Amino acid sequence: MKFFLDTANLGQIAEAASWGILDGVTTNPTLVSREDEPFEVLIKKICETVPGPVSVESVATKAEDIIPEARELARLADNVVVKVPINIEGLKAIKVLAQEGIPVNTTLIFNPMQALMAAKAGARYVSPFVGRLDDIGHDGMELVDQIVTIFNNYGFETEVIVASIRHPLHVIEAALMGADIATIPFGAFEKLVQHPLTDIGMEKFLKDWEKVNR
Ligand code: G3P
Repeated sequence: MKFFLDTANLGQIAEAASWGILDGVTTNPTLVSREDEPFEVLIKKICETVPGPVSVESVATKAEDIIPEARELARLADNVVVKVPINIEGLKAIKVLAQEGIPVNTTLIFNPMQALMAAKAGARYVSPFVGRLDDIGHDGMELVDQIVTIFNNYGFETEVIVASIRHPLHVIEAALMGADIATIPFGAFEKLVQHPLTDIGMEKFLKDWEKVNR
């Protein structure tokens, strides 16, 4: 299972990269709007810091505009993946970009058919947004389960990125379902490795170590 960081913050990315388990980064317009650096400079720096794919979102709405914008984004660095929202215009763009070898992460996926359509068009990744579904009283992880089953049924190579993650349980369920990737905000990422019994255990061991005749 791959772990991506869902952020555009260079400090968070460098910190998570230092843990040795970071496989990639996903950004979106909201995340980049929180950073001060000029957009292209920021993306190039992120791409240099991350040892893996970096998703950068296209903001055009017509296929004829998404395609040239995606080509420009892909020129920023070798590891750029272009995020394209799912809709008819997005599908048209994905088809062309896939034929050109530009990897696409299809974003804003909220039902399994959107994921299947994106995979058929040639998307490299699909991003179901689980937290936003949970927020409106739906079961976000059920969507992931459906997409993983459908892709396995037909042998699609499109990878499933579980996105809009809110807490570690989303990541555990994603792993149990066999999702390829979880893209995780920094706060939830830190929690994956924390446990109060680990802290209590360490404290006791360190205290007892003081009593050892050395
Ligand atoms: O990057 C896409 C997705 O992970 C956004 O999550 O928290 O804005 O629903 P959120």
